[in-house]
Amino acid sequence: MNILLTGGSGYIGSHVAVSLAEKGYGAVLLDNLTNSTADVVSKIEEITKQRLALVVADVRDTATVRAALRAHDVSAVIHLAGLKAVGDSIEKPIEYYANNVQGTISLLQAMQAESVKMLIFSGSATVYGLPQYLPLDEHHPTGATNPYGRSKLQVEEILRDLVRSDSNWRVASLRYFNPVGAHESMRIGEWPRSSPTNLLPIIMQVATGRLSELQVFGNDYETIDGTGVRDYIHVSDLAEGHVATLDYLHQNSGWHTFNLGTGKGYSVFEVLGAFERVSGRKIPYKVSQRRPGDVAACYANPAQALAKLNWQAQRDLVEMCSSAWGFAQSDCVK
Ligand code: NAD
Ligand code: UD1
Repeated sequence: MNILLTGGSGYIGSHVAVSLAEKGYGAVLLDNLTNSTADVVSKIEEITKQRLALVVADVRDTATVRAALRAHDVSAVIHLAGLKAVGDSIEKPIEYYANNVQGTISLLQAMQAESVKMLIFSGSATVYGLPQYLPLDEHHPTGATNPYGRSKLQVEEILRDLVRSDSNWRVASLRYFNPVGAHESMRIGEWPRSSPTNLLPIIMQVATGRLSELQVFGNDYETIDGTGVRDYIHVSDLAEGHVATLDYLHQNSGWHTFNLGTGKGYSVFEVLGAFERVSGRKIPYKVSQRRPGDVAACYANPAQALAKLNWQAQRDLVEMCSSAWGFAQSDCVK
């Protein structure tokens, strides 16, 4: 059974492709390569020992997406393509809505035309806005504080309307918490093409000498040590969550949302400490102002994913840090 992965050569998509192959699904990648490179295909092939197709195209190119759905006899789509930097989205909102919202609409038009009605969407915990209680379950009210977050919420609304209009659709939005780490082979992982803004990629750049120090955004939050707490999840666990969701959608039609997180939060200093232990490197840091838009703590209640998908995260913070570090030191990173 073939699955089309839009944004498939990106960080999360490449790991999802590996997990799909492990479970006997065929993966077809479609990506415009704005934030990834085609050589990831050979890395995935090395890991899975299976051939993989990459269609280089924009998800808004409906004709090409339709042709790909037909040519590869695709039965479901995992839609990861999109732009994801919060700061950029504030500066370039139209680009974000064009990629993330218009991109999804174009994809849905292609899917509808080809009668492919099973979809997993890369959602985000950012749709919960400012946490009103913790841990965050799927019933927590939604809200967004920036164009990136609003684009994710708008897509969820569109998908909900679509499912209401036609009961043949089977759609899930997976609300990712903080994906980190790399595949155990260390052949694929996260190495942003532009300046990273997330914690672990920045720590990697300090560890490899590309940045001189980490700025810790605030140490006066009401948390265990004053620094921000997040639910970091190993990208391979996250990828396996997609396969579990595909299996679920084969049994269940309609609209579904699932948190993909571990349920456990770690502070910036806890992540820093774990990374230093794993790598044996000292990471210089300076405490600076809180980052605008940041919350003190954000972590998932992952109970629904366990109950319905029979999925839960397996890998711990040490594995997250050691795989990320292994990848950062590998010849895959230039
Ligand atoms: P990524 O940038 O590594 O991957 C996204 C891929 O989509 C890239 O390869 C890029 O080239 C491609 N792409 C972008 N716009 C496209 C378009 N219009 N047409 C075709 N391809 C396009 O990012 P990622 O971390 O793998 O994220 C994947 C998805 O998960 C995104 O939708 C993102 O918003 C979501 N998400 C990511 C995180 C995270 O922390 N990484 C957290 C929550 C949600
Ligand atoms: C950020 C985004 C969020 C997005 C998520 C995953 C913001 C405000 N939020 O969330 O919308 O869904 O990434 O892509 O950008 N930190 C530092 N120094 C740094 C970087 C981060 O101290 O240089 C701290 C942050 O204050 C936070 C933690 O590290 O407490 C994690 O930050 P980050 O990796 O950016 O993730 P989020 O803030 O959860």
